[in-house]
Order: sequence, then structure tokens, then C-alpha cells
Amino acid sequence: MSRIRVGVIGAGTISQVEHVPNLVRLRDKFDVVGVADPSKISRTFVNETYGVAVFERPEDLFGQKLDAVVVGSPDMLHHEQVLLALGHGLHVFCEKPLCYSPQEIDDIIQARDKAGKVVQVGYMKRFDPNYQLALENLPGTAKTLRYVSVEVNDPDAWPFIRHHQTNRGADIPREMIEGAAARQRNQIAKAIGVGADAATIRGFASAYSSSLVHDVNVVHGMLDRLEVPDGVIVGGEIFAGGDGGQGAVRLLGGQAMWNMVHLTVPSLADYKERVTLFFDDAILELEFPSPWLNHQATQLRIKRSDGHTMSQTEMRAGFEEAFVEEMVGFWDSIVNGTPTRNPAEDARRDQTLLCGLAKWHIQNSSA
Ligand SMILES: NC(=O)c1ccc[n+]([C@@H]2O[C@H](COP(=O)([O-])OP(=O)(O)OC[C@H]3O[C@@H](n4cnc5c(N)ncnc54)[C@H](O)[C@@H]3O)[C@@H](O)[C@H]2O)c1
Repeated sequence: MSRIRVGVIGAGTISQVEHVPNLVRLRDKFDVVGVADPSKISRTFVNETYGVAVFERPEDLFGQKLDAVVVGSPDMLHHEQVLLALGHGLHVFCEKPLCYSPQEIDDIIQARDKAGKVVQVGYMKRFDPNYQLALENLPGTAKTLRYVSVEVNDPDAWPFIRHHQTNRGADIPREMIEGAAARQRNQIAKAIGVGADAATIRGFASAYSSSLVHDVNVVHGMLDRLEVPDGVIVGGEIFAGGDGGQGAVRLLGGQAMWNMVHLTVPSLADYKERVTLFFDDAILELEFPSPWLNHQATQLRIKRSDGHTMSQTEMRAGFEEAFVEEMVGFWDSIVNGTPTRNPAEDARRDQTLLCGLAKWHIQNSSA
């Protein structure tokens, strides 16, 4: 079974720009059996552009001979669709956020273990060759760590996908949209409690769970490498009507701090995502391009001092595309049993932190 029969659920932006073309190109590893989406416009586009069969409902896809599915549907559908796929005995790759609450992720972990299948979460940055190079260039200890900074300004995808061929339809039944919105409200209430205002709900779904989740995952991977245990939340703020999300975490009992901010700057065609680690005697900085700009290298810079002489090293491991490499990794876990790089447990840890930040914001936002 070295060629995996895969179905894709959701034929929206991420599937049209990344997952479907990438899986089709990885033809020695994947046979794309079909794509399911309720939008006829999106289905027709995917069928005509990539020549793959299309289906209206995920259930129609599950009726085909499959080994695995890639879930690229809206966030609030992930829980149900991942459980359904595991129930059909399929390996699952699911986009982030896997689910909003740690409890829902526990359901998936349980179902995965029962089915004995791979579940991989779509944290593609973990497959970025320059992120891996950064891990290799961290000091062997956290003794000198002082500060971790995450700063992102992001207009969303529009400036970075114009050159791609896409046609994402909005022709889906109104009841389906309303049903999904109600489901999202319930899931978020489960994750952060009832009574949050509209901006908090929006910020939790968007700034935190959809965007900052990537950086939380990236930093968790770096802190693991430094053997820094999970810290204590000392601040969380959702601002700019939910377009902005901030979080502050005390690390190593106050030896170091981690501050993170994601801000949507909706009308500026610019993207910057910087993750910086400050040590006593060095600074390591990663600057990620917009993820939609395929094969554009993440920049890795390290500053060091030799007495008064400061030097900056720029490093680059290669131009492999993280969105492609994560699928190769998925294939490798299924076929060769290689440990999953982004298991559901990591998503559980990331969402636990993000739920904690939102709860901090709710408790402290009356002042
Ligand atoms: N890894 C990344 O960097 C990255 C980037 C973008 C999006 N994403 C994630 O990918 C997922 C999809 O995002 P998107 O930007 O493609 O959204 P999108 O809204 O463009 O596409 C979602 C698609 O799902 C379809 N859909 C709606 N209800 C459905 C149902 N019941 N069953 C199947 N399909 C249904 C819609 O018709 C639409 O085509 C989200 O979870 C998002 O967070 C990840």
C-alpha cells in the first residue's frame, strides 16, 4: 500500500491553492480519489482544473475505496468529520485548528487510538526546512533564555493568491451556513465558557485559533527543543474587534517571558510573521513569508557577539515547500509508520493555551 488512496473534504481556498494540486503532483504517493464540497462552483472548478472526481457530501466520498482523507473544511466541521473518517477506518490529515476545545480533541485521540490510524494536524511550518534548521541551531540549554517574541501582521490571503487559479463558490444552502454558525457558537462556548461578547468570540475563532495557533505550535516546538516546560499565562487580550489577539506567558518561573501578537491589517497588502528568541548572548529570528507564497524561503538570522564584535549569520536550508512536505510526512507516517510530526496531542496543548488566553481576556476585560 505505498500509493495512498486519498479523498479531500472541502474544496475551498486551501484545497484549491494547496492540497488538491499538491496531492495530484505527488502522484507516486497519492491517488486522489475525489473531493467533496457542497458548493457546485468549487466542485466544478476542482474537477475541470485538476481532473479529479467530485462529490457533494463527505458521505459520498466515504462510499469510495479510500485509505485516507484530508479535511480542509471550515473549522467547526473538523470534529465531526474527523470522527466520521476514523469511524470509516481512514487515516486523517486535518487542517488547523483541529478543534476549538481540548475536550473535543480528546474525542479524536480516543477514536484514533481505537481505529489505530494516523491523525496529523496541518501545522505545515513544522515541515519548513528553515524552521528545522532553526531547531538545530538553538543552544543546548535554556539557561540563557530571556524572551520569546511573536509578532504577525496579516491581511489574510487576498494579496498572495491573485496569481493562483481559484474559484471558491458561496453557492451553498443558507441552512448549512446557519447550522455551521450555530455549531461554532456552541463549540466556542464549550471551549471558553458562555457569555463572551461578539468580539471575543470572533477573536478566539480568528486571531487565536485560526492564526496565532501556528505560532503557538512553532514556539512550543522550539521550547521543547530547549526543554522548557509549559509556562503560566500572565496576560491575554483580544482587541481591534477580534482582529487582534495577544498573549503573555511566564516561562521558567520568570526567568523568561513569551509575548505573542497577531493582528489582521485588512487593507495592507503586506505580511510579516516574526518569531524571535532572545538569549543572554544571542538572538535567533525566524521571519516567515505569507504561507500562500509557495517555495519562498523562511529567513533565519542569528546574531552573536565576540566581545565588541557583533556578527549576524543568515542561514537557509533549502526551498522545499512546507505545504508539500507535510503531505509527504503524512504519507510516510501511513506507509512506513514514521511517528506523526503533528499529532492531535500537540493540537490539544496549543488549544489549551489559546483557551486559557481567551479566558484571561474575559476575566480581565471589564476594567
Ligand atoms: N494551514 C494553513 O495555513 C491554512 C490556511 C488557510 C486555511 N486553513 C484551514 O483550512 C480550512 C479551510 O479553510 P479555507 O480558507 O479553505 O476556507 P474556505 O471557506 O475557502 O473553504 C471551505 C470550504 O468548505 C466547504 N464546506 C462548507 N460546508 C461543508 C461541509 N459540510 N462539508 C464539506 N465542505 C464544506 C465550503 O463550501 C468551502 O468550499 C480551515 O480549517 C482553515 O483554518 C489553513
